[in-house]
Amino acid sequence: MLPTLAAGSVDVVVTSPPYNLDLAYNAYDDARSEADYLAWMVQVAGAVRRVMRPDASFFLNIAGSNARPWLPFELIVRLRPLFVLQNHITWIKSVSTGDDTVGHFKPVAGRRFLNHNHEHVFHLTLTGDVQLDRLAIGVPFKDKSNIARRGHAQDARCRGNTWFIPYRTVQSRSQKYHHPGTFPLDLPRWCIRLHNRQDALVLDPFAGTGTTLVAAALEGARGIGIELDAAYVQTAAARLAEELGVRC
Ligand SMILES: C[S@@+](CC[C@H](N)C(=O)[O-])C[C@H]1O[C@@H](n2cnc3c(N)ncnc32)[C@H](O)[C@@H]1O
Repeated sequence: MLPTLAAGSVDVVVTSPPYNLDLAYNAYDDARSEADYLAWMVQVAGAVRRVMRPDASFFLNIAGSNARPWLPFELIVRLRPLFVLQNHITWIKSVSTGDDTVGHFKPVAGRRFLNHNHEHVFHLTLTGDVQLDRLAIGVPFKDKSNIARRGHAQDARCRGNTWFIPYRTVQSRSQKYHHPGTFPLDLPRWCIRLHNRQDALVLDPFAGTGTTLVAAALEGARGIGIELDAAYVQTAAARLAEELGVRC
């Protein structure tokens, strides 16, 4: 589908491709050879690059596993000839501060590996000079005296490049839309808001259950989703209909 889109037409790409970690998708086989997978991802990234406007942002979410810890790094190095790595965001899914924890933690099993609490979001651009609206996802100052003292126009400071977005707690697979690898709605919402363009066109070439499309609609943007699996496309359409009250 990507070659059918107009060149230089997309403002924001937010996507999470299959990670090649043998996840149990409905139709897609997530267990290619590493060489085959990386070659495919480079090809897809080239096709994404073609449809990006010169000042577009491409947010690529990916993670490795204990068995494949090099994977995200192997991929991002291969994308170096195509993009500038403008920001590297760490999406934190669960965190401990002091003795407190927020988010989900798996039980301790084995003694080699720590819990995987984060994933990568690589912010790729064509020039490295794409202007962002950092305060659109900013956080209020803790010490309000900083606002006047440092000459800030509003009570907001940069969120930084560690984004804590936990999964919501669900009781059943249906609440995860029967899909093994969705991201939370705030992830694409923050990406779209950070890029912040009027009437933005947002693309997700691995749309899954349509999280990016719902995010685009909630942010007042237009969305294009591409998805291999007809069942997930139906889910995405149902989510859009339910969350936005529109017919898809
Ligand atoms: C990690 S999931 C994306 C999940 C999505 N972010 C969400 O929140 O629902 C990757 C998706 O890519 C889809 N996929 C695999 N190969 C594809 C292809 N060639 N074209 C389009 N989609 C594909 C899979 O079916 C899967 O739903």
